[in-house]
Amino acid sequence: MKLFENLLYSIHNNICTITVNRPDKLNALNRLTILEIGEALQAALDDASVKGLIITGSGTKAFVAGADIREFLGLTPVEGKKMAHTGQALFNRIEECTKPVIAAINGFALGGGCELAMACHLRIASENARFGQPEVNLGLIPGYGGTQRLIRYIGKSKAMELLMTAEMINTQEALELGLVNHLTTIENLIPKCIEVMDKIMTKSPLAITGVIRSVNSYFASGTIGFDTELDEFGKCFGTEDFKEGTSAFLEKRKASFSGKELKQ
Ligand code: COA
Repeated sequence: MKLFENLLYSIHNNICTITVNRPDKLNALNRLTILEIGEALQAALDDASVKGLIITGSGTKAFVAGADIREFLGLTPVEGKKMAHTGQALFNRIEECTKPVIAAINGFALGGGCELAMACHLRIASENARFGQPEVNLGLIPGYGGTQRLIRYIGKSKAMELLMTAEMINTQEALELGLVNHLTTIENLIPKCIEVMDKIMTKSPLAITGVIRSVNSYFASGTIGFDTELDEFGKCFGTEDFKEGTSAFLEKRKASFSGKELKQ
């Protein structure tokens, strides 16, 4: 059993479960959590007994409610871009993981949480889950690959709508759009993930790795958008809108955007 500050890490019947464990902050991804997910991923990859991974959130309210907004405060455009780069790199590693990874989505999957779920190979969600990219509420855009992966799963038209309106969708809608693979009850969430993973684990591990690499390579030529996302995410940190949006969230009030750059 590995010990982490913000994660639970367990292995049972060849399946490693990584649980983001900050329930009082709706499992928001702060720097340490991002770092620890990377370490847990590596530990699972290095452990020959692990044949598949499940990533989930602690409690019944949130999978992950996004990147930790408190850590955004005071970042410059360069620092903001650097932060997004670290998140993108981790989520790319999850997507490229040679062992199958299932997201067990047990509640809010917003912002970085939706991006984390999209980086996994499959998504299984409970009825109470909610999906969305609400960054524009904060004067931001997604920075951990969300603008790119959302298009891949649900198409440009619907992705554009969700990204611009910040609206949340429920699991039924996410299922219809192709964002999630299965909808189930909260009680059955982990059993359903195990059922699907058990089926995958009866197949050739080398063939499964081949599937992961081949499917990912279908999108390999379209990576320029990830760099654009990094540039645009970084730029947001130089705006009045970002300052107003993040302050409004933390002060629990509605933001009022001016559309202005920060004065130097
Ligand atoms: N970053 C940091 N803290 C977060 C967070 C995030 N992304 N999401 C939730 N939290 C914290 C809240 O600040 C609150 O902390 P507090 O008790 O110290 O004030 C706690 O988690 C509970 O959240 P709260 O907003 O009170 O719960 P709610 O049930 O009223 O609302 C959400 C739930 C998910 C709708 C709301 O928390 C939310 O909109 N979160 C942000 C989503 C987001 O914008 N994500 C993208 C970030 S880039």
